[in-house]
Amino acid sequence: MSAPGAYVHVPFCAHRCAYCSFVAQAGREGEDAYFEAVGLEIRARAREARGPLDTVYFGGGTPSFVGPARIEGVVRLLGETFGLAPGAEVTAEGNPDDLDDARLEALRAAGVGRLSVGVQSLVDGELAWLERRHDAASARSAVSRAAALFPKVSADLMIGIPGQTRGTLLASLDGLLGAGVGHVSVYLLELEKAPRLVALRREEPGLFADDDEMAEMWELVDGRCEAAGLPRYEVSNWARPGEESRHNLKYWTGAPTLAFGVAAHSFDGRVRRANSGSTTEYARRVREGGTAFVSEEVVEGEAAVRERALLGLRLSAGIPERLLEEASASLAPSARARLRECGEAGLLERRDGRVRLTRRGVLLSNEVFSLLV
Ligand SMILES: C[S@@+](CC[C@H](N)C(=O)[O-])C[C@H]1O[C@@H](n2cnc3c(N)ncnc32)[C@H](O)[C@@H]1O
Ligand code: SF4
Repeated sequence: MSAPGAYVHVPFCAHRCAYCSFVAQAGREGEDAYFEAVGLEIRARAREARGPLDTVYFGGGTPSFVGPARIEGVVRLLGETFGLAPGAEVTAEGNPDDLDDARLEALRAAGVGRLSVGVQSLVDGELAWLERRHDAASARSAVSRAAALFPKVSADLMIGIPGQTRGTLLASLDGLLGAGVGHVSVYLLELEKAPRLVALRREEPGLFADDDEMAEMWELVDGRCEAAGLPRYEVSNWARPGEESRHNLKYWTGAPTLAFGVAAHSFDGRVRRANSGSTTEYARRVREGGTAFVSEEVVEGEAAVRERALLGLRLSAGIPERLLEEASASLAPSARARLRECGEAGLLERRDGRVRLTRRGVLLSNEVFSLLV
């Protein structure tokens, strides 16, 4: 089995973005108690990993918002507890408004080798709709200073921002590529948590791209990244060869990940366990019993095969044909027939014993994935 990775959730942000669906609070209240709990949880779960960690991922929330000494302390404790493989990939997510030179240098000194910056857009009007605290110029500056300091820098962009056009999306992407990022993640903006944007869409639907336009935007990103030497390796992720997120690849290949902190989900190859999604309950449970698991799901047998096929199909490398055959064997006859039709309709291609989604297949990937659930 491949080496385990660790995820650490940091639920603090300078400001709560209206659209955000992550577990995160504005401000640093409770930070001491939280990191104390994370330390207790790591020590209590010392026996869970088989072999040293080869990835550590600080996600959020905004890991760059807390003091880099916090990150450094957790990296050190993870190393003492589980061991860190030589060359382990240590990623932290960051928000451009935290990333002055001193913070970037401190994060690098804390052991972070890969910085993933939440840019979303390099167009001021779009950032304003998202109520982001940074503007385009400061985000571009943060990314280019980060690219000069970190071995690997990734940036997140969003599709579906009010007022966004193909032209502004490409301008944002070109700005990031020009600033030197070697990895790009693109998310479709989900509005459910943002009543102001939902109301805006009702009043001015013309400001929002429809599904076809969003698909065109994704294709534009795909073409531009590919041309810039960042081929797509997952449906929403593009990277220079060698700069793929080794940590996120663990999720898509079913490798074990130990996850610490509020709302974190761990997987040991068979059992998926979720920590409490409430920061206070998380800390209380850890203080009382060392762990904060509130649910667990055993993934085995036919369901495990289907899950491996579904996650693997997200990757451009695809999956062995026999895995898809094994996965289809446990489907209802109607779903098996639909899956065959997806192949005939050009959503899947078979080559060298592997099967992968075509570009059109990626755009309609929910069709395929819903059959395998
Ligand atoms: C935890 S955040 C990254 C770091 C930092 N908190 C930030 O916002 O810049 C991870 C990414 O999720 C994406 N995201 C957050 N809320 C989203 C939403 N409602 N719809 C789509 N993507 C979202 C953003 O692209 C964001 O950069
Ligand atoms: S900064 Fe990131 S994690 Fe925090 S509220 Fe905004 S989108 Fe969510």
